[in-house]
Amino acid sequence: MTTPAEAIRHLWTHKTQDHPWLSDEELVVDRAEGVWVWTERGHKLMDAFAGLAVVNVGHGRREIAEAIAEQTVRLAYYPTTRQFSNRPAAELAAKLATLTPGDLDLSMFAVSGSEANERSMQIARHYWLARGKPDKHKIVSFHGGYHGATMGTYAICGIPRMAAAYAPLQPAGFVKCTAPHPFRDRGDGTDAQLVERRARELSEAIVHEGPDTVSAVILEPVLSSGGFIMPPIGWLSAVRAVCDELDVLMIADEVITGFGRTGRWFAVEHDGVVPDLMSVAKGITSGYVPLSASIARRRLAEAFPDDTTQENVHPNTYAAHPVACAAALANLQIMEKDHLVANAAAMGARLLGGLTDALRGVRVVGEVRGRGLLVCVDLVAPDGSGQPLDQEMVASLDRREWDRGAIIYARGSVLRLAPPLCITPEEIDTLVDLVAATVRELDRDLVK
Ligand SMILES: Cc1ncc(COP(=O)(O)O)c(C=O)c1O
Repeated sequence: MTTPAEAIRHLWTHKTQDHPWLSDEELVVDRAEGVWVWTERGHKLMDAFAGLAVVNVGHGRREIAEAIAEQTVRLAYYPTTRQFSNRPAAELAAKLATLTPGDLDLSMFAVSGSEANERSMQIARHYWLARGKPDKHKIVSFHGGYHGATMGTYAICGIPRMAAAYAPLQPAGFVKCTAPHPFRDRGDGTDAQLVERRARELSEAIVHEGPDTVSAVILEPVLSSGGFIMPPIGWLSAVRAVCDELDVLMIADEVITGFGRTGRWFAVEHDGVVPDLMSVAKGITSGYVPLSASIARRRLAEAFPDDTTQENVHPNTYAAHPVACAAALANLQIMEKDHLVANAAAMGARLLGGLTDALRGVRVVGEVRGRGLLVCVDLVAPDGSGQPLDQEMVASLDRREWDRGAIIYARGSVLRLAPPLCITPEEIDTLVDLVAATVRELDRDLVK
């Protein structure tokens, strides 16, 4: 039995999708295993974007399904908004305290990445209230940053086309800075000089706003939606130093980069930095059940006495959902058992190296860059100007790749890859061949 197009048209997403090249019925995904998905029509594709950089352990892991089933029968739901807790939630919070760097020890759970960022901003706000600094409320974010699809996260969104509709609803004074993007901004200088320049701008922006009014800086270690922008190692420690100097909190949005994606458990580890708050989602359960968390440093939590009877940040109905937490525990067990963080580092290097070699000399290739299993090809116009390649041309790579048998994500000027972390060397080599063939085909078409 297949899904009728008539039924698909009741999905609102149908109104927002951009797929003029395939019918609705052809885009119904039916089942998946490892790094592979099958549509209802029987088309087999390599999932080279892990859904939306979510399915870290790969599709179809029975251990997670069993943990979900067992927990559902034992206790499917009970709120944690008031005095209650549950075992999977407590065990997961304790486990996260061991996996995250430094004294990131206390987890507040939510459902989506957007909500994790909301909670991080709210915890920051309550922290300053508790510290007797009620004016500290502004959040500084970055151009190209994406933190979610809620009103609060649109206020810090650095992608204007996504946030523009909500601009009249947003609070004033939320300033945006620029993160270092070596490929576009390095010029004749060094990465270190670029980092220094951008850190100085950040510091000046906070001083201009008035540090007494700024609560936090929020940033993605790799700006994913913004175009897989990979600030040089050293950027996060520079931001940490600015935050410390000006008494502003640092929030790392690790919704995509967390749980092994960059070849470390968390991307902040590349810089040896401990943020004050870390937002996580996606890879925490590999998407088997939605779950997210804002993880706070103990030194922040200490601002709230344990014997207080006053609520600070209000959790939502599904906070610390026992089934989601049980799924997360099973997911993390697989990550450890199968050494998926190390595999992400090794397979990421293989993918980056393979693509760099296979695409050497291709005119539309501006740069191939990667950090763990976030790897991308930044495309430029074939005329040697170095200008970004026409967006429609780049988007055509989605279709071309689909025809060859892989799902990638090509937007702006960037072809992005983020396969499941369980990917094998043979599958990486297949992906390199598929992507290289597609990019070369586009290059050939452009000179015709
Ligand atoms: C860095 C980052 N933060 C936050 C979000 C929002 O997460 P969600 O879509 O689960 O709300 C995303 C989504 O892709 C993201 O990439």
